[in-house]
Amino acid sequence: MRAEGPLYLAHTIDAARELHRSFAQKHAQDDKREFAPRKLGDVPLCPPCPLWLKLPVQLKESLAAAVARLTAAQVPSPRLNAESLLMFTLDCDRAYLFAHPERELTAEEQSRYDAALAERARGVPTQYITGHQEFWGMDLIVTPAVLIPRPETEHVVEAVLDCVGRALLPAKAPEGQPFLRIADVGTGSGAIALALAREFPQAEIHATDISAAALEIARANAARLQLADRIQFHQTDLLAGLELPFDFVVSNPPYVGESEADQVQLEVRKFEPHNAVFAGPTGTETIARLIPQAHTALKPDGWLIMEISGTIAEEVKKMLEGWSEVEIKPDLQSIPRVAQARKS
Ligand SMILES: C[S@@+](CC[C@H](N)C(=O)[O-])C[C@H]1O[C@@H](n2cnc3c(N)ncnc32)[C@H](O)[C@@H]1O
Repeated sequence: MRAEGPLYLAHTIDAARELHRSFAQKHAQDDKREFAPRKLGDVPLCPPCPLWLKLPVQLKESLAAAVARLTAAQVPSPRLNAESLLMFTLDCDRAYLFAHPERELTAEEQSRYDAALAERARGVPTQYITGHQEFWGMDLIVTPAVLIPRPETEHVVEAVLDCVGRALLPAKAPEGQPFLRIADVGTGSGAIALALAREFPQAEIHATDISAAALEIARANAARLQLADRIQFHQTDLLAGLELPFDFVVSNPPYVGESEADQVQLEVRKFEPHNAVFAGPTGTETIARLIPQAHTALKPDGWLIMEISGTIAEEVKKMLEGWSEVEIKPDLQSIPRVAQARKS
């Protein structure tokens, strides 16, 4: 153990902590700066108070230091992120964090928390650090090979439920036939296909992606959720090579234009897969190819349901001319989010 400054005088951990606290407080009063650690994994320190002693640090102190660090790095929602990463580090839930503020982190836990915070501070999304994201009540594995599923994509699943309800489809399939045949195009982590497999235990579900790496994650998610035998995965371009017809073609395709790249969050641009986000110069390129393919792939009266953005909503509506029951539905922020249409 190496101690420098006044801490070498501290002969017990408690005394060292007390000394450190008084330094931190004094410093905070002096220049009103947030009290943040120099090196996570070490005891949280005010900048002019070099403390090299590896001392146990309490959970609440570690969390406060992490919030300050993420705030300084301009990470949005720093407290939420700091808590999520601490929950990940300690493999615990939020209730545990609040119930055990005095719990001491081991040196190994502090160093893992430090590593996670360093990643977050350089912009890596929390979900890629923890490897998890919730979607439709399911815990999904995510890696940088897949887009992090967004809450607004749940509107695509809701739209399918709504259409099935509206069509008054029979609750049971005729003997020997699947209740519904559904294709999820650009499945990524498998989010939409898995949610639909959960909702429709009798449906036959096919999920496609152009990315082999994404399909590997989707398959892993299906296995973890015990839905592997419910979904057939295909590495293909859109719907190419699939056995037709389908009752539903659903998709959250890439729909951002390269021309609007500067309006996309830096974190998304830097860390999420480019071909999951960007479709081409205008953003409508993938959808423009998908619409006629879906028309061919659907049964009469079958539905196409796609996630879109407000930027391309009008353009997509035009592309759906000739379809029936065309609707553009907003998300919770009133942004046009789901385009749905029925094959006439
Ligand atoms: C926006 S992400 C959606 C992922 C997932 N469905 C979700 O909602 O979280 C789009 C996905 O489409 C895939 N993709 C892009 N172009 C494709 C194409 N031509 N054919 C099939 N999949 C494609 C990407 O690899 C990516 O996984």
